[in-house]
Amino acid sequence: MPLVDTKKMFEMAYKNGYAVGAFNVNNMEITQGIVEAIAEENSPLILQISRGARSYASMSYLRAIIDVAVAENPDIPIAMHLDHGDTFESCKQCVDDGFTSVMIDASHSSFEENIAITKQVVEYAHANGVVVEAELGQLGGIEEDVVGVSADDVANHLTKPEEVVEFVEKTGCDSLAIAIGTSHGAFKFKTAPKLAFDVLEEVARKLPGFPLVMHGSSSVLKEFKDLINKYGGDMPDAMGVPEEAVAQAAKLSICKVNIDTDLRMALTAKIRQVFCETPAEFDPRKYLGPGREAIKQMVKHKLHVLGCAGKADECL
Ligand code: G3H
Ligand code: 13P
Ligand code: ZN
Repeated sequence: MPLVDTKKMFEMAYKNGYAVGAFNVNNMEITQGIVEAIAEENSPLILQISRGARSYASMSYLRAIIDVAVAENPDIPIAMHLDHGDTFESCKQCVDDGFTSVMIDASHSSFEENIAITKQVVEYAHANGVVVEAELGQLGGIEEDVVGVSADDVANHLTKPEEVVEFVEKTGCDSLAIAIGTSHGAFKFKTAPKLAFDVLEEVARKLPGFPLVMHGSSSVLKEFKDLINKYGGDMPDAMGVPEEAVAQAAKLSICKVNIDTDLRMALTAKIRQVFCETPAEFDPRKYLGPGREAIKQMVKHKLHVLGCAGKADECL
């Protein structure tokens, strides 16, 4: 089966109370770890590519890797999604490149500008059979090309439930990323983590049946944080979204959960461990291999947290 869009996945996720994992890919080992996990767990999958990933690996390499993943797993629905497209042009480029889903993130613009640019992307994408994720409200944290509000300011930039109906009606977007207190990266909270489930429930009430998306959903797993800190890393204050909160959101109207940091930390932890335990090692297969395996086991676990393990068939 060729790449699919996310329509059927979201329909089933909404109806049956789970979320589909959207995992960021930057190279072959990360992609292989994720895809081996979803194949063993028979799960639907969204592989997402950021602008940073495109410029790091180049689209032609990433596309070739994903094409192999799709060809080797003909019974698994796999979508290829642009993560945090910032302009109409970047989204158009990805539609033209064969993505089946794009995100336009104009959440830092005014409400009116966000509507205007999202609508423009939707018109082009829909004319080419591609679905569109948009964003209302702002996340915290900072990644290579994705700027967020400061950690102290996250609570002041949550999605305003009173805006969502007008936004969805005027833009025609297919799914909506909302801000409920999560951030990108490994340092999401300074004190006890807490998500705004009241905002999620209010948005869901206003948009019944409409798929919502949660970014910044990594949990900063203790196993990898401890390994990184033990083997020369320096991330003592890293803190993520507790998996119980992710699982709760997935049972509600969150249909797509974005995970990148947990992949990065799994790979980094294993590479650090190999380098420290065997300083003479210089064969990349000996440290990238354990990193890939750690990603695979971590993703298998996540698919159960999200509830999408075993759901590939119903999403076909
Ligand atoms: O949301 C951000 C993703 O983690 C991608 O990050 O722009 O550094 O590739 P990146
Ligand atoms: P994390 O940094 O929590 O993994 O979030 C990733 C994300 O939202 C990508 O769009
Ligand atoms: Zn994001």
